[in-house]
Amino acid sequence: MKRQVRVLDDAPALARALAQTIRDELTEAVRTRGQAFVALAGGNTPRDAYALLANDSRLRAPIPWTRMHFFWSDERSVGPDDPESNYKMAMDTLLAKMPVNNMRVYRMEGEDPDIEVAAKRYEAKMRGAFSMTNRTVPRFDLVLLGVGEDGHTASLFPGTTALDETSRWCVANYVEAINRSRLTLTLPVINHANCVVICAQGEKKADIVRRIMTENTEPKLPVQRVEPKRGHLIWLLDQAAASRIEVQQLDLFRDEGGSSSGLAASA
Ligand code: 6PG
Repeated sequence: MKRQVRVLDDAPALARALAQTIRDELTEAVRTRGQAFVALAGGNTPRDAYALLANDSRLRAPIPWTRMHFFWSDERSVGPDDPESNYKMAMDTLLAKMPVNNMRVYRMEGEDPDIEVAAKRYEAKMRGAFSMTNRTVPRFDLVLLGVGEDGHTASLFPGTTALDETSRWCVANYVEAINRSRLTLTLPVINHANCVVICAQGEKKADIVRRIMTENTEPKLPVQRVEPKRGHLIWLLDQAAASRIEVQQLDLFRDEGGSSSGLAASA
């Protein structure tokens, strides 16, 4: 695994770096494989990057939108019109404005009262899109993730059963901390991706970023278990999120990940 860490000056620079990374990874995937499979992150951090992709022609134009397959990394237990919906956020900021093939936009049906069935249905959608019949794990070209202040990523929260899933690709995960179940991609799928991008923005994430990058206690934080074995992991931080970690600690984190070289500290 190659691991890169980029610290951008501020939130707008982080959004632009994320949008550029999405454009570059997806255009490269289509160039080499004819199509691209991406799992979109939810939450707020990626919102501005999605909007940039929709509104900046230098970012939007190179992407062969009709060759894209859009999935989500996770979804809350809400419907597609709910303000909390990760699907709604990505549709409103990006996908509804792009010439995507709607048959290649795969929504997680978080509102299903039987969320276990919804998880199985989503795995079937993945199987169809990846044209997979056997049990080999689908390989996303790009998985986008955020990180919570407790170290969760997607809907893989500390101490939840989904963290121990070794074969299924999508599961329903009961999260006691919020007393809700959510749908989430599992670590086998995330760690089989060609590229995983994890974003953290703002002062509120500074402490968890410090813990992620300097502590190796067991059990690992969920986001520390994101290690794409045959892929590359890119951390995108703004200065505020990186404000409690020393430069040499950042370099050590990069080196431990086997990165070819730490990228410049700014975009
Ligand atoms: C979600 C996300 C979740 C998110 C983190 C960070 O459904 O909320 O999948 O994993 O990425 O909680 O959220 P923010 O980007 O809003 O800080």
